[in-house]
Amino acid sequence: MTKEEEGKEEQEQVVTPWDVSGGADGKIDYQKLVKEFGCSEISEELISRIERCTKTKAHPFLRRGLFFAHRELDEIVTAYEKGEKFYLYTGRGPSSESLHLGHLVPFQFTKWLQDAFKVPLVIQLTDDEKFLWKDLQLEDCRRLARENAKDIVACGFNPETTFIFADASYMCPSFYVNMVKIAKCVTFNQAKGIFGFTGDSNIGQIGFPPVQAAPSFPDCFPHMFGMNKKSLKCLIPCAIDQDPYFRMTRDVSHRIGGYKPALVESRFFPALKGESGKMSASDPTSAIYVTDTAKEIKNKINKHAFSGGGATIEEQREHGANLDVDVPWKWLNFFLEDDEKLKEIGEKYGSGEMLTGEIKQILVDVLTPMVEEHQKRRALVTDEVLDLYFNPKKTPKVFLDLFREYEEKEFGKWEKKVAGDSGDDDDLCKALEEKMKLEGATENEEGCAIGAPKSEDWLRIRKERMQQDAPTEGSKSALKKAAKIKAAAEKKAAEKAAKAAARAAKEAAAA
Ligand code: TYM
Repeated sequence: MTKEEEGKEEQEQVVTPWDVSGGADGKIDYQKLVKEFGCSEISEELISRIERCTKTKAHPFLRRGLFFAHRELDEIVTAYEKGEKFYLYTGRGPSSESLHLGHLVPFQFTKWLQDAFKVPLVIQLTDDEKFLWKDLQLEDCRRLARENAKDIVACGFNPETTFIFADASYMCPSFYVNMVKIAKCVTFNQAKGIFGFTGDSNIGQIGFPPVQAAPSFPDCFPHMFGMNKKSLKCLIPCAIDQDPYFRMTRDVSHRIGGYKPALVESRFFPALKGESGKMSASDPTSAIYVTDTAKEIKNKINKHAFSGGGATIEEQREHGANLDVDVPWKWLNFFLEDDEKLKEIGEKYGSGEMLTGEIKQILVDVLTPMVEEHQKRRALVTDEVLDLYFNPKKTPKVFLDLFREYEEKEFGKWEKKVAGDSGDDDDLCKALEEKMKLEGATENEEGCAIGAPKSEDWLRIRKERMQQDAPTEGSKSALKKAAKIKAAAEKKAAEKAAKAAARAAKEAAAA
C-alpha cells in the first residue's frame, strides 16, 4: 500500500458528535479512538473497585467492555471510596419522536450508576443543538425534548434525585455565566480543530459547545448544588461520540475554577443493517425504536438484521458464523443479561451448531418484552409526572443532604471567622450570608435558577434542618449554636416573665 493510500485509509474513520462512520472496512477502530482522543481503557481492576465500593455487581455493559473507555473515572472512585460524592450528567439531542435502542444504552447505564453510587443526576436536552444542526423549527425541538424525556423517565430514574432540563427553557444566570467563561477560553481555531467547524458553519453551531460543557459544573444548578463550582465532582456517561465536547471542557476547567469532569464512554450499539450502516430516523428499517410493536420488531430482525452466519444451512453447519460482524450476536451482547446463556449462544452459533434463524428468534424473544415493558412504563409518564423531573423549584431532600456535607465543612470555617470578626453569633444565618458574600455570590445568583428557592427560603430551610436533624459530625457545632440561641431566648423570656410578675406583685401590694 502506498503512503497516500495509507493516509486515505487513516482519514476514513470519523467520530464526532454529529457524524460517525467507520474506517475502510466500515468498522470503528476503538483502540485507535482511545489513542487519538487521549482517554484510557477501563481495566478489570477498576471494575472490581467499582463493585467493591458500591457493593453491586457490575452492569453487563461494564462487565462486557461495552463501556470501555474513561477519563479520570478512577479518581471519582478513589474519592468515593473516601466518602466523597459526585453527580452524574448525561443528555440527549431531541431530533426524533422517539429513541432507538442505541439511545437506551447510556440511559440504562446511567440509571445503574445512579442506583449503585446513590448520587444525583442531571439530564440535558439540547433542543437548541438540534435546532442549529437539523432542518427543524425550534418549537418542534422543544416539543421533541419533552417527548424524548418521557422515554428517558421510562428508564426508571428516581424523581427525587434526577433533574431534567431543556436548554431553551432552563437557561439561567449562573448557567449563562459558566457558558461565557468557557467560551472565552476557546479560540475559533481550537473549536475548528476539535469539532471540524468550517466557514459554512452557522455561528450558533460555533457558539454551541459551551452549552453542553457548562452542566459539567455544579453551580449551573444552584437549587440543587449551591453556588460553589467545586462543591461536587461530575461524572459523564455517554457514547464516545460526545468526547470532543468534554475534551474541550476538561481543557478549560481549571481556568474557570472548576474540577475537570470525569467520563465513562461506550462503544456504539450497531445499526441493524451492519456496523458500517447508520441508525437513521429517515430509514425506519435501520433501527428498532422504543415505539415499535412486537410485529415490527420481529419483521425488522428477520428481514434486515445483518447476519454473519453461512449463506446456506450447510455452510453455517460447516463453518459457523462470523461473530465479528453478526448484528443479532452483537445486540444480544448489549441486552441479554444472562452471562452463561450468552456464552453458550456464542459457542453454538460460532461453531455452526446454531442457525441464523435460531439466534434471530432468541433476539426477538429478548427485545420484545424489553420494549413492551418500556412502553408500559412510558404510558405512566403523564405531564404531571414529567413536571416532577423538570421542576427547578423542588429542592429534594437528597440534594439538601448532599449539599449539607459540603456546606457543613465550609460553614464551620466561615462560622469561626464571622464569630471572630463580630463577636456576635446571634443569628445562625449570618455566617452563611457572610460566607456567600466572601465567595462573591450575590443574592440574585444564589437563587438564580428559574423558580429556585430564593435566599431567604433557602436559609429558612437550612435553619429548620439544623434544628431538626440528628447531629452529624459536621452539624454538631451548628446545633450547639442553635441550642445556645434557644437557651438565651428562653432565659430572656424567663427574665421578662419574672420582671412582669415582680411588677404585678408590686402593683398589687401598692393597691
Ligand atoms: P444524542 O441524542 O445523539 O445521543 C444521546 C446519547 O446516546 C448516545 N448514543 C449512542 N450510544 C450507543 N450506541 C449508539 N448507537 C448511540 N447513538 C447515540 C450518545 O453518545 C449520547 O450519550 N449532544 C448530545 C446530547 C447531550 C449529551 C450531554 C450527551 C447533551 N449533554 C451529556 C451525553 C452527555 C446528543 O445529541 O446526544
